Amino acid sequence: MPALTGRRIVLGVAGGISAYKAVEICRRLVDAGAFVSTVLTDDAQRFIGALTFSALGSEPARTSLFGADGHGGNGGEGGNEPIPHTRLGRRADLVLVVPATAKLLGKYAAGISDDLLTATLLATRAPVLIAPAMHTEMWEHPAVQENLATLRRRGVHVVDPESGRLAGGDTGEGRLAAPERIIAAATEILTASGDLRGVRVLVTAGGTREPIDAVRVITNRSSGKQGHAIAEAAAQRGADVTLVTTTERSVPAGIEVVRVSTAAEMEEAVVPRASAADVIVMAAAIADFRPLAPADRKIKKDEGLSEIALEPTHDFLVDLGRTKPAGQVLVGFAAETEDLVENAAAKLTRKGLDLIVANDVSQPDAGFEVDTNRAILLDSLGSIEEQPLQTKRELADAILDRVRPKTTDQPDSAEIRKDP
Ligand code: CTP
Repeated sequence: MPALTGRRIVLGVAGGISAYKAVEICRRLVDAGAFVSTVLTDDAQRFIGALTFSALGSEPARTSLFGADGHGGNGGEGGNEPIPHTRLGRRADLVLVVPATAKLLGKYAAGISDDLLTATLLATRAPVLIAPAMHTEMWEHPAVQENLATLRRRGVHVVDPESGRLAGGDTGEGRLAAPERIIAAATEILTASGDLRGVRVLVTAGGTREPIDAVRVITNRSSGKQGHAIAEAAAQRGADVTLVTTTERSVPAGIEVVRVSTAAEMEEAVVPRASAADVIVMAAAIADFRPLAPADRKIKKDEGLSEIALEPTHDFLVDLGRTKPAGQVLVGFAAETEDLVENAAAKLTRKGLDLIVANDVSQPDAGFEVDTNRAILLDSLGSIEEQPLQTKRELADAILDRVRPKTTDQPDSAEIRKDP
């Protein structure tokens, strides 16, 4: 997978001659899969236009704390936003400033927030990475060095400038670090901050298709959206993800994908991979019955087909529950139309699961096909938590929040996280 798939980066650009290099960095971050929101200071726009970043970034560049109407920031998803700096900062996984000028460092160290970039820097709780660039004399000035020391002490990451040719033909220290170094530093911070880093997650998705004959199948209404959302969310949180899916949906590079069709193929793909997984999320809607003797040719209409004999498929989730290695977290789904909690709780026990995601699929805004979902999470420790109506991605994150990654101080701790 591109190293930064789905990670949200706020790219702040301050007013220095090397602002043009931020364009290349923006493009490379987007190529690496990141969602890049650019914020330009007024000075930055004297060197480079916002349009360039709007074209290359993931959304229109922002330039102001206040929109044209004075009520909110410009640009970004949905245009005017009431409080863009807090929204930007809150959802960012990283705030990266290229170039960080002497003025920017001074304001940031002093806690001045008089534009969208400095306000975002103060509002965010995400890691911040700055790449200073300025003339050697300015770089060496005690005020700049003290500001930098203050920022480092507060946990700000710094890619130090290099020695080389500066604007105006001078040579010396202060030249912006090479884009490769800045990207490498950003990648390292983002990879290290994923809470599922190193966790091996196996996800199934979609409804199986059981052949009746060479052209007809018995299937169900599962779209695979929820399972795919879980796989993508896990990957973005640093997990090593394998997705076994019945759908043709595109999957971000880096997630191992196995495309299957029938319940038997699903079992063949999942079972050999199961013991190596720390977490298994069985979001697929696997057929409970399949035609007993599918024809290997198309049954002609004139032949008639008044009934289809079915046989049960093998519920291999039960096997996974029985043979679960210590520490593995097994998550199942329960699609129900009645007695949601009772049925899901019974499945949780019967299948030896750690967590079950109970869906009332009779609701029009939850379950099959739609982009939203409403679920109840039941765990083996007896907790029952009702999730609000939310996007499938949000539910994916809520499910993953309950899967504790292995840590060195908890060698056998892949277990369900119990809410306090
Ligand atoms: N499952 C499975 N193999 C099957 C059927 C289901 O591994 N042959 C898994 C699904 O992926 C899901 C869980 O079991 O995670 C529950 O599936 P569901 O169809 O809701 O439950 P069933 O056990 O089939 O019960 P019922 O059809 O009676 O509701």
